[in-house]
Amino acid sequence: MIIHKTEAEIALMKDAAMLVSKTLTEVAKILKPGVTTLDIDKLCVDFVKEHNAIPSFYNYHGYPHNICASVNDVVVHGFPNSTALKNGDIISIDMGVILKGWHGDHAYTFIMGDVAPEILQLVKVTKESLYKGIEKAVINNRVGDISFAIQDHTERKYGYGVVRELVGHGLGRSLHEDPQVPNYGKRGTGHKMKENLVLAIEPMINLGGREVFTDVDGWTVRTQDGKPSVHFEHDVCVKRNQALILSDYSIIEAAEKANPYLNSSYY
Ligand code: MF3
Ligand code: CO
Repeated sequence: MIIHKTEAEIALMKDAAMLVSKTLTEVAKILKPGVTTLDIDKLCVDFVKEHNAIPSFYNYHGYPHNICASVNDVVVHGFPNSTALKNGDIISIDMGVILKGWHGDHAYTFIMGDVAPEILQLVKVTKESLYKGIEKAVINNRVGDISFAIQDHTERKYGYGVVRELVGHGLGRSLHEDPQVPNYGKRGTGHKMKENLVLAIEPMINLGGREVFTDVDGWTVRTQDGKPSVHFEHDVCVKRNQALILSDYSIIEAAEKANPYLNSSYY
């Protein structure tokens, strides 16, 4: 069932999405070699609770942590752990919150220090593909237009692997609402969008092949070939001429630029 939001509900969802953006901004401030993803988990939970919200991933279908921390060949749903992050890692932090009954769910991939040019390009192109998808989130377009835009920019133009098993989704009072938003598909197909549909659009793009597998822990999704994968996610509201992005990378990027341990040279 597709649920459209009222303007008042969109305002509340903006607050939820922005709380995630602010949390990811705090993450951008503390990331450096030696920090662990469990440290990041703790920072995120504390920050979100201080802001009268609760982390939504904890116990979602039994998920045992508050954030997903997906490093290098981990595509998504990585468990925070006690391994020190190091120069050359790429780290996707995905966080969900419930604020006043509404979900925010978004993610950003950070680069720690020096990486190969091909990894820098993968991060750049994946972020670009998210915005290419968002451009299509306008009324009377179809979900397939978003999907095609992402696939076209990543797979056709760069030969990257577009993960098929995991998709974006509607967002609202539930973390996962209809419709599903695949990162691959055909233009002019799928659900025809109307105003105030809220979507979490989240390209998961592999440097190598698109094949993935799930670890024995039942959650951690990794690339089959062990090559890196990048994940960016925004919460967006379908509008007439231009989608309204509820989350905000500009504050995360400002903190990232100010952090000497993070590599933002691609933008
Ligand atoms: N952004 C992911 C999603 O929308 C995160 C879910 S992780 C889970 O599916 F732990 F909550 F499952
Ligand atoms: Co999501």
